[in-house]
Amino acid sequence: MKNQFTINNPVVLHFGKDILKDLPGVISRYGKRVLFLYGKGSAVKYGYYQKIRDLLDENGFFVFEYSGINPNPSTEDVEAAYTEGINNDIEVILALGGGSVTDTAKAVSLCIPERLPVWDVVKYKKKPSKAIPLITVLTLAATGSEMNAFSVIQNSETKEKLGFGYPPLSYPKHSFLNPEFTYSVPADYTAYGIVDIIAHAFENFFGGGDSSLADRFAVSIIKEAVHYAPLVLKEPENYEYRANIMLQSACALSGITSYGKEGGDWGVHSAAHVLSVLYDMPHGASLSIVYPAWFRLQKNRIPERLKRLASLLFDTENIEHFITLTEDFFLSIKSPVSLKTEGFSEKDKSKIIHVMRQNKVSGNNYKLSSDDITALVELMFS
Ligand code: NZQ
Ligand code: ZN
Repeated sequence: MKNQFTINNPVVLHFGKDILKDLPGVISRYGKRVLFLYGKGSAVKYGYYQKIRDLLDENGFFVFEYSGINPNPSTEDVEAAYTEGINNDIEVILALGGGSVTDTAKAVSLCIPERLPVWDVVKYKKKPSKAIPLITVLTLAATGSEMNAFSVIQNSETKEKLGFGYPPLSYPKHSFLNPEFTYSVPADYTAYGIVDIIAHAFENFFGGGDSSLADRFAVSIIKEAVHYAPLVLKEPENYEYRANIMLQSACALSGITSYGKEGGDWGVHSAAHVLSVLYDMPHGASLSIVYPAWFRLQKNRIPERLKRLASLLFDTENIEHFITLTEDFFLSIKSPVSLKTEGFSEKDKSKIIHVMRQNKVSGNNYKLSSDDITALVELMFS
């Protein structure tokens, strides 16, 4: 356990079927001029947009919208939303969507007050000292962005996809989680979301330092995700199943899985982001490809840590068996585990290695050398 640490997650989480009735009152605490952000179409198609727009209109807010935010959002998404915010002197941001919309909103909220260039903020070259208050309404359980201070933005020019955060500034003030808003998430993104939840628990499990309770929080979240995954895929409109997955998402990266530790490793995310930036691969799909490869890379380096996870999770001390069970689970929910079976070529392999080396893909706790990157990518093709 770390000698000294502070815990402060200031997000007010509103969870359940009827929570949206509280939304207008909550927004009005921060202002009347609202920048309303959403994605490419699902919020409109399934009626979530209209529900919220009606609430805003009925309560006399001045609403300025920016929509069409891409999955795996880029600096362009942030800049366009930022311009809309600045032109209209907005006081509060409302994000309706999954991690991509939420992360874009976080970046906009940090850049607007001091007119900071987004990529400088992402790279910690310019540090914001103010943020526009952000309120989120989540439509996809996956990233935990609703409950943390991080955002992940990609730069298509430099081929980088980077996570950054400025706690406590970049925490949403409030997050509204109605599991019914996730009924419409298709099977593939439901599965990718579940992989992401599990990956956040894994990353923290492999972070620096020791905390038995944090290990058990992480493993409990993974067990819950593994339990509810087949149920929710079979019955996507079951409230209990969606609610459980949504709560797992909110907890997995809320801080509890690293209480008493140094933080997470994030080497697998760092590698997976390269697949997203190069091939626009959904985040969860990239993680289910990298994790088995990373486990195999680390098998003889950190056997004790892997055995602890294997025994807590699947009641085995056989690391290869643990990796196979993890792969089987990912495959059972149709999330890929190999680049080879996904049709990637030798040419892709060289490109991936090149960009991973260029981006210095590595973990905080388990550093990856250039040779490790090659070995990792080779394993992703096995
Ligand atoms: O764009 P629309 O039309 O809304 O469609 C989205 C998108 O195509 C759709 N969708 C969302 N809610 C839906 C829905 N479809 C039907 N019904 C609904 N209720 O799902 C697709 C994926 O949405 P997206 O927001 O991209 O997914 P996710 O929540 O997985 O977010 C992924 C992004 O978050 C980053 C990832 O790297 C990626 O860029 N992450 C953010 C983190 C954070 N801020 O803490 C941590 C994570 O590790 C992750 O890196
Ligand atoms: Zn993730």
